[in-house]
Amino acid sequence: MGIRKISHIGIAVRSLEQQKRLYGEVLGLELIGEEEVADQKVRVAMYRAGEVRIELLEPTASDSPIAKFLEKRGEGMHHVAFEVDALVPMMAQVKQQGVQLIDEVPRPGAEGQIIAFLHPKSTFGVLTELCQPGIHSPSACHSNPPQ
Ligand code: CO
Repeated sequence: MGIRKISHIGIAVRSLEQQKRLYGEVLGLELIGEEEVADQKVRVAMYRAGEVRIELLEPTASDSPIAKFLEKRGEGMHHVAFEVDALVPMMAQVKQQGVQLIDEVPRPGAEGQIIAFLHPKSTFGVLTELCQPGIHSPSACHSNPPQ
């Protein structure tokens, strides 16, 4: 049980189109998926950077959690996501160690995965996601940002 690797880094962006130029054309990363997550009011573009993914998050509405983040903090790093073998035991373990969870129960992510966020108050300002890939996505944690 434990953390396998960094799954992805979430980045809050105002304009996916502008950032896609940077990550795709300038930096030359491979775009591996793009989708709108209506529930969280974001549009997501995923890039592959070796083993790690870059998750660009653009708000689709002014009450999106990412819109609120952009208002407060501006564009930039939003969260880091660690891939774990077993999410529920890992959540219990960190909670027992005094870490506050945003998600007390796992929430579903895309592609059959389950995810949970740790509160940045407990992680020295870094919004931290734990994710466990679904059986159909051996290494494809892909998340929706929390409020
Ligand atoms: Co994420």
